[in-house]
Amino acid sequence: MKILMVCLGNICRSPLAEGILKNKVKQHKLDWQVDSAGTGAYHVGQQPDPRSQAVAKKYGLDISIQRARQFRASDFDEFDLVFAMDRSNQGNILALATTQEQREKVHLILEFTGAADHNVPDPYWDDNGFEQVYQMLDQACSLLPGIVEERVSH
Ligand code: 4NP
Repeated sequence: MKILMVCLGNICRSPLAEGILKNKVKQHKLDWQVDSAGTGAYHVGQQPDPRSQAVAKKYGLDISIQRARQFRASDFDEFDLVFAMDRSNQGNILALATTQEQREKVHLILEFTGAADHNVPDPYWDDNGFEQVYQMLDQACSLLPGIVEERVSH
């Protein structure tokens, strides 16, 4: 199973989602690969935002080795599932899809949670937003092993 987490800049939300899910995968001893990307190219090559690194560290995760890259059409072939952080990211990803099979790989990360709003808020302009983003992503990533295993077995 190969899973790609996608936001806009690949420096705030999706690096956290990558780090959190990688930790769950390790805990569950799953044979999954996890990566992340941004629909925009503004921050390509950069480390995760220091505020994302700090909240990850608070919960025992080191995401400092990650580097931002841009989402590319070939990711549809490379990955089994693509999780967008919000509907805007999802729209930008779907704009690059050319087949129904590719479109069906794309989901919102909060789709399987009970959240009323399926968007993970962009914390870039809000220093206080990172804790909330961490909690939302931790909840969503906790559910993914069960949801994905169920999909695969059907
Ligand atoms: P991300 O956050 O999509 O969660 O990585 C953002 C990072 C950078 C910008 C916007 C959102 N930006 O406008 O540069």
